[in-house]
Amino acid sequence: MKKITLIYFSPTKTTETVLRAVTQGLAQSMEISGSEITAVNVTSPKLRDTMLAPLDDNDIVLLGAPVYAGRLPADAADFFKKLTASNTPAILTVVYGNREYEDALLELKDVAAACGFTPVAGGAFIGEHSFASTDIPVALNRPDENDLKQAEDFGKKSGYLLKKTKDLKKLSTLEVPGNFPYKEGMGKGAPDFIKVTDLCTNCGICAAACPTEAIDAEKGFATIAADCILCCACIKACPEQARLMKDGPIKDKARWLNETCSTPKSVQTFFATES
Ligand SMILES: Cc1cc2nc3c(=O)[nH]c(=O)nc-3n(C[C@H](O)[C@H](O)[C@H](O)COP(=O)(O)O)c2cc1C
Ligand code: SF4
Ligand code: SF4
Repeated sequence: MKKITLIYFSPTKTTETVLRAVTQGLAQSMEISGSEITAVNVTSPKLRDTMLAPLDDNDIVLLGAPVYAGRLPADAADFFKKLTASNTPAILTVVYGNREYEDALLELKDVAAACGFTPVAGGAFIGEHSFASTDIPVALNRPDENDLKQAEDFGKKSGYLLKKTKDLKKLSTLEVPGNFPYKEGMGKGAPDFIKVTDLCTNCGICAAACPTEAIDAEKGFATIAADCILCCACIKACPEQARLMKDGPIKDKARWLNETCSTPKSVQTFFATES
């Protein structure tokens, strides 16, 4: 019996939601039961310090990450690069906020191949933009029902491809859009773009949600700008809406995205073929 392992980085959980739908379709087409499915969420910095056991041909791995500036978030890429695999099929998912995904899916494919995976399928899905709010609704509430149906179908098709493929080495190389050298990625560090209002109850939920430990509980849950990756997980996790985006360059960028990228984009999927 094959095992499915999902490994993902997902500060605001859209990647996680898409990946779970892909997994559902894959498990269905491959007749793999829930007890053989393991989810490894490497959004938390502590989990990114752990090492996973080497993966082999009994495993099917789904790798998922959001798109940051047309690339993988550095924290996700750095963790994925530590994986080791041998003859293990990989299904690759990136989720972007309705602008573009540029080199992110290609980068994920290249990272996976360098770890020893055989990339068999890749998909670019749309998720609510990290910078979105009800006032600035960039791709608000995506993935929607239709996106998740397509994610499930992508998983199913990947499963059928794996079922009929006797030898992974006979598959063609997976082709996905993107350019190498990749476009320049983001470094760590952000403008001080979050304010904490009087509604704060000191519950600590924002600090627990932060993937880079960039919130100082001792200083009124202020953001440590040098460690912040702009993911907005803290803003979206705050139960009191006490964490808000300040006026400034990031809010301006959100407004620009809302004006420029308002036409909903469609899911794109790619598969290796039997040669
Ligand atoms: C720093 C940063 C950079 C981003 N860059 C892009 C981008 O280049 N293109 C795009 O369409 N969306 C971009 N997004 C939006 C995210 O890819 C999108 O919201 C995604 O659904 C977030 O995934 P998550 O919910 O798993 O965190 C960016 C978000 C952040 C925080
Ligand atoms: S999650 Fe909101 S209410 Fe809780 S500590 Fe953070 S800012 Fe304050
Ligand atoms: S402080 Fe920065 S890195 Fe941490 S959750 Fe908030 S936006 Fe993300």
